[in-house]
Amino acid sequence: MIKRTHTCGELRESHISQTVALSGWVNAYRGYGGLTFIDIRDRYGLTQLVFDKEDCSAELMELASRLRNEDVIAVRGVVRLRAGAPNPKLPTGQVEVVVRELELINKTDNPPFLPDDGPAAENLANEELRLKHRYIDLRRPRMQHILGIRHKVYQTTRRYFDENGFLEVETPILYKSTPEGAREFVVPCRNVPGSFYALPQSPQLFKQILMISGCDRYMQICRCFRDEDPRNDRQAEFTQIDLEMAFVQREDIMSMMEGFIRRLWKDIANTDIPPITRIGYREAMERYGIDRPDTRYGLEITDISEIARKTDFRVFQDALAQHPDARPYFSKKGVVKAIRVPGGAEKLTRKITDGYSEFVKTFGAGGVPTVKVVSGGAGASPAGLAFETGIAKFLEPVKAELVAALGLEPGDTVLFAADTYAVATKALGELRQKVARDIGLLPKPGCEGGPWNFLWVVDFPMFERNKDSGKWVALHHPFTAPREDQQDAFVAADLSSDDETIESIVSAGYDIVLNGQEIAGGSVRIHNRDVQAKVFQLLGMTPEQAREKFSFLLEALSYGAPPHAGIAFGLDRLIMNFVGAESIRDVIAFPKTMIGQDLMTRAPSGVTEAQLKELHLVSTAAPQG
Ligand code: AMO
Repeated sequence: MIKRTHTCGELRESHISQTVALSGWVNAYRGYGGLTFIDIRDRYGLTQLVFDKEDCSAELMELASRLRNEDVIAVRGVVRLRAGAPNPKLPTGQVEVVVRELELINKTDNPPFLPDDGPAAENLANEELRLKHRYIDLRRPRMQHILGIRHKVYQTTRRYFDENGFLEVETPILYKSTPEGAREFVVPCRNVPGSFYALPQSPQLFKQILMISGCDRYMQICRCFRDEDPRNDRQAEFTQIDLEMAFVQREDIMSMMEGFIRRLWKDIANTDIPPITRIGYREAMERYGIDRPDTRYGLEITDISEIARKTDFRVFQDALAQHPDARPYFSKKGVVKAIRVPGGAEKLTRKITDGYSEFVKTFGAGGVPTVKVVSGGAGASPAGLAFETGIAKFLEPVKAELVAALGLEPGDTVLFAADTYAVATKALGELRQKVARDIGLLPKPGCEGGPWNFLWVVDFPMFERNKDSGKWVALHHPFTAPREDQQDAFVAADLSSDDETIESIVSAGYDIVLNGQEIAGGSVRIHNRDVQAKVFQLLGMTPEQAREKFSFLLEALSYGAPPHAGIAFGLDRLIMNFVGAESIRDVIAFPKTMIGQDLMTRAPSGVTEAQLKELHLVSTAAPQG
């Protein structure tokens, strides 16, 4: 076999006249009379090969003429300056290799598609086909680039945390079923009939136990498993950069993680990230209606309840009549909120705004009352503005106040939501993002290279009531501590009666948001056994259930647990940002489809009756696929 001396991305003018050997895949084939050109490709690049009738034997020319895309070949030949025009797009574009020897190592069958990125994404074969033959898809230069970036992120991560004294520790994949939030994947255990392992949603409890074990600083690049429906930035099997530190407070961990982000963005994107702004959860919800605000555009939300109260508009009045005396952020309190859309009068047609009313119904809101702001006309205010559309007459008496509160100008559209605090906030938070897309405020999806709008979101509530079951749930996870100044209020709270107090307790959790996407989340942890037991109780676990599920944690907490805190980054999401990918599937070597299938190996698949028997299981469904 011809053994390569260089890669296909390596040859330059300095190699001219050298005899070299290359191996790789046939990327393109062109024949002109006595000349045959082949582009040979490997992970590192492309090089042009020339077979010239004047120099090559008839046998060699014959062999070259039979080559087709994706054949695996090796060649030996001499580097020369390109006889034709150089190709400035290729790093090897100044030179070509005049072939003297060719070895056809492996002839390919006719490939189902070519690993060609093409000038536009539309040129790609459809995703199903690409996932089925992922080995061909991964040969694309774009995919090789992504794998390369992913590799670099692993290296920078390990270097940074090693320099800062973190120990990399592996934690089990076969784990215990614990109610942490998402649905779990379970694995039947052969040795103990009727019992199951669960795959970890994250190594959360192991990393806390490692702190109790005296590890002091832990890191792991780990797999997590959550049986949730995949989305464009969510997979059932994904990777975290998982971290935990002992004897620290919130500030210590936040500054360590900012240092990490700065290093990562410097190494990977050659960008200096300025100090990251912080926003409290309440403020984020008030201004953006979401706990992961995208701050690349404005369209902020304003609470206009007090102005709305002065109108005769039934929709506003009915909403405001709900829990009128509760504290401002009580989720069931009635509110009226609005978004000013500059230029909306022209850009948002009636058809679009009607669509918005349908859109918010998904979030429980009744609709989106809308007004357009125009200049002059009948009934114009002193500022020369008038409102148009059906509800304009109801708003007439408060026009001046609305203009001042929302900073209205001619050409604006105002979108309202009148409902409970929880529904109105959610509806406008989602609508804000939709409007931004509709009127073109967002950079093209998949755009690489920033802008990088980072935010720390802090001061989350500890708990909220699940809107379906009515049960309390932890906003982060049940191991998150109350913020230091809230401990006493939590310890004193009467769990059975004091909803408003429980809803108002602020946690020591924090998230990092990048351009509206949550890229990391973590918290200071509870290191006191009684506080942990009280959280389990609030979440509806009896002491027996808590012991059954978490006895190891409660025990560990009673044998000398240091204060500790941690965070986990979604590694796949970091890569999506670095490479400008729209889909998480593009940054994972072997991802699953939207319905959780691996199209290449055809997992999941049925198992034999014998296997089921061995595992003490009975199948009730016919296996698919
Ligand atoms: P959390 O559940 O917030 O926290 O996860 C941390 C980060 O992991 C990423 N992420 C995901 N990425 C892709 N697909 C998914 N299905 C998915 N789910 C989460 C997000 C998220 O910010 N144990 C805690 C961390 C801690 O408290 O230290 C945890 O797992 O980017």
